[in-house]
Amino acid sequence: MRTKVIAGNWKMNKDLAETSSLINDLKAKIGTGLGGVEVVICPPFTSLALASELLKGSPIKLGAQNMYYEDEGAFTGEISPKMLKSAGCTYVILGHSERRQIFGETNELINTKAKKALAAGLLPIICVGETLDEREKNITDQVITAQIKNVLKEIPAADLEKIIIAYEPVWAIGTGRNATPQQAEDVHRHIRKLIGQLYNWTVAEKLVIQYGGSVKPDNAAELLKQPDIDGALVGGACLKADSFHLIIDAANVV
Ligand code: PGA
Repeated sequence: MRTKVIAGNWKMNKDLAETSSLINDLKAKIGTGLGGVEVVICPPFTSLALASELLKGSPIKLGAQNMYYEDEGAFTGEISPKMLKSAGCTYVILGHSERRQIFGETNELINTKAKKALAAGLLPIICVGETLDEREKNITDQVITAQIKNVLKEIPAADLEKIIIAYEPVWAIGTGRNATPQQAEDVHRHIRKLIGQLYNWTVAEKLVIQYGGSVKPDNAAELLKQPDIDGALVGGACLKADSFHLIIDAANVV
C-alpha cells in the first residue's frame, strides 16, 4: 500500500500575516493526527522560515514551489536547495506547468533541478501534464511519456522512492474543470507502466503519483479512490483551512 500524499501549492499567495493565520487554522483542524496521510504545504519562499517555525511539533511537512540548481553564487533572484533545506523544507515542487509555460522551464532543466534536489536531501514533486490542444489531438500518452523520460534521465532506481510524480493536466489547473476520475486514472496507469518499463515493477508499484488540477472537497474522494491515484497536488482549495482539511479527510477515508 502506498501512502497518500496531499500537498498544497499556495502559488504566489499569502503574506506573513496570512501565512500565520492559515497555518494556525490548519493546525487547529488537523490536531496531531493525520491518519495515514502525508500532508505537505508549499508556501512562497518568503513564508518558508515562518511556516517552519509554526509547524514545529506538527506532522505537516513543508515544501517549496521551485528552486535553482546551484548551491550558491551570482544567480540574482534564485533560491538554492541548500537554502530550502535550512529553511526547513522536506519537499520541493519542480516543473509545475506555470513554471514551464510562464517561465520557459524545459524537461532538461527540471531534470537537472531534480538531481540537485535529491543530492541536497530534498524530495522532489515533479509535475507533468498535457495541454488541452495535446489532449484533443489524442497525444496525451506520448506527451507524458516524453516528459517522464526526460525529467527522470540518469536518475537511478534507488532514488525513485524519494520522488513523487504529479500528473496535472494543464487544462484542469485553476479552471474548475478537473479531469474525470477515469481520465486521471488512465494517465496514472500509463505513468506507472512506463516506470515499470524504464525501471522495474517493484519501483513502479512504490511510486506515489498525485493528481492535480481543480481538486476540491467535492471531487477529491472519487479521484483518490482510483487505484493509481496516490494523492493530490492542490492549488486553489489549499488556500483555506476548511477546504484543504476536507481533502485530507477524503484521502483518509479512501
Ligand atoms: P488548482 O491548481 O487546484 O488551483 O487547479 C493545482 C496546481 O496548479 O497544482
